[in-house]
Amino acid sequence: MFFFGREFNFMSKERKEGIIDYYLNVVKIIFHPFYYVFPDMIYVPIPASLKYYRNLKLFDEYIYEMIKEEREKMKKGEGGKNLIHNLIEAAISNPDFVDLQAVRDNVTMMFLAAHETTSSTILSLTCSMAQHPEIQEKLREEIKRLMPDPKQEINMQSTKNLHYLKNVVNENLRRNNPIGFSFARVATKDTVLGDIFLPKGSYLISSVRGNGFSEEVWDNPMEFNPDRWDKVTNEQKESFIPFLCGPRVCPGRMLSLIEQEIYLICLLRKYKVEFAPGHSLDKHAIDRFVVTPRLDIKFNFTPL
Ligand code: HEM
Repeated sequence: MFFFGREFNFMSKERKEGIIDYYLNVVKIIFHPFYYVFPDMIYVPIPASLKYYRNLKLFDEYIYEMIKEEREKMKKGEGGKNLIHNLIEAAISNPDFVDLQAVRDNVTMMFLAAHETTSSTILSLTCSMAQHPEIQEKLREEIKRLMPDPKQEINMQSTKNLHYLKNVVNENLRRNNPIGFSFARVATKDTVLGDIFLPKGSYLISSVRGNGFSEEVWDNPMEFNPDRWDKVTNEQKESFIPFLCGPRVCPGRMLSLIEQEIYLICLLRKYKVEFAPGHSLDKHAIDRFVVTPRLDIKFNFTPL
């Protein structure tokens, strides 16, 4: 809602065919290992490449339709509290404004970069709470103690002292990062990384999620243990790059962190979270760029 002014029911099994399917078909293809290794094959008219272009066209048409609808609303003085509105406003106030392609590009980027990463992380946080009732209880106790007034605004200032909350969010990003691997980078010159020689033109991919699983860096890395963040070492801090780093670091990281905190605070104040009978976090679905827990996991939310 915040990004696009509408609800897609992204994680719902009952969603109707439409933009989500076009989107998933596009990302499944471009992030397929085959295209990662042979990116130029996307220009060769084999069935997968053709499917990619067909779905990309449908996806684009849908995005342009959303932009058109938002522009209509803007003309009537309606709409407004969403990213598409802001992007259109920024585009048309730019003296070099030519067409709405830049808006379409940014909306598409937000679809992948902001929407799916966030929904996947919210789901994995819910799983982490259901899987670890003692951690859930400890966090609830901290929230009730340090933010006793449910009407208090939740922002970066008011959550500053919620130390355990930050530990839980970090631990979930370490253990369940939704980004499997980075976009490929190209070595612009012959480069030596540690003891590895990379000739100019080599593709380099960082295993964002895998970083959190390194046994060389983390004790018992598969264990979900927020307390480990109380004694985190410099080496661990440096290897923890859920949003990557450098000039292309995720620009949405602060927004994402506060979103996760808001979610946990609102959830745990009101509900006890458990897996529904017969459900558990047994595996992750990794059929595209964003790694997410299985979409058919069910929970029981018991009001407190
Ligand atoms: C848990 C949530 C998120 C995670 C784990 C995450 C992670 C990342 C990572 C690892 C990258 C770098 C990808 C690469 O260069 O290979 C990235 C880029 C990006 N992220 Fe996020 N992100 C999250 C949420 C968001 C949100 C909420 C937004 C927007 C509000 C956002 C916007 C972007 C954009 C626009 C880029 C591309 C930046 C560029 O290429 O210069 N992300 N994100």
